[in-house]
Amino acid sequence: MEVVIAPSADAVAALAAEIVARAVSTSEHPVIGLATGSSPIPTYQRLIDLHRSGQVSFTHASAVMLDEYVGLPRGHRESYRSVIRREFVDRVDLAVEQLHSPDVHSDDLAAACSAYDETVVALGVDVQLLGIGGDGHIGFNEPGSSLVSRTRIKTLTAQTRDDNARFFESVEEVPRHVVTQGLGTIATARHLVMIATGAGKAEPIATAVEGPVSAICPASVMQLHPHVTVLVDEEAAALLRLADYYRHTYENKPSWQAL
Ligand code: F6R
Repeated sequence: MEVVIAPSADAVAALAAEIVARAVSTSEHPVIGLATGSSPIPTYQRLIDLHRSGQVSFTHASAVMLDEYVGLPRGHRESYRSVIRREFVDRVDLAVEQLHSPDVHSDDLAAACSAYDETVVALGVDVQLLGIGGDGHIGFNEPGSSLVSRTRIKTLTAQTRDDNARFFESVEEVPRHVVTQGLGTIATARHLVMIATGAGKAEPIATAVEGPVSAICPASVMQLHPHVTVLVDEEAAALLRLADYYRHTYENKPSWQAL
């Protein structure tokens, strides 16, 4: 696992966008994994800028989403599919038919979860962007999630519903249920890129990166993956015990070694 402490949230976004742009430019049929929430928005903006300046094209790319709310009307403005289209997909040349997300309106939700899991694995994700919840979740794998779980329905914790209430009129409107790629599904991606900025992420990041691998902090499963890049700003890095070592390592990174 490589931890990069960047001077600002903008610098974090620039690094994350660089990783995605490189993957998209070097693969014939790149597959990118998209997270929702606030953390990756500046990264999407960077990618949109790179696209507009002709430095990256997504015409041959596909994208898979990590998770989706259950219970919102189709096309609801805060459904994750709507958000990811508004914030990224509809602003670059990625065909909307190539944006994959779980069918949360299916009459057979369990079958839809399995079908989505198979799609994600069959496509093969090159780079998966991740944010981290205040309770250590990735995707919507809340604490207690099996470390080898697959795509399934989960119930959000009270903390996550409170955290996400800012996108709705009130916390009562935040759905209780979601479909999320499982931790085992996420781990099939070739490269995991975690984006965490701000003081509110200091504790979950320290627990995920330096704590024990445990279902109490689902993001700690990243420690078992062979290629993980954790991009944090100074605030999110505040509780990392090995911060000086991560800085030293990055400053002395061999020039031939990409992120
Ligand atoms: C969203 C997702 C979640 C968020 C996490 C952090 O697709 O997978 O794990 O990344 O809840 O959200 P923000 O970035 O809003 O703090």
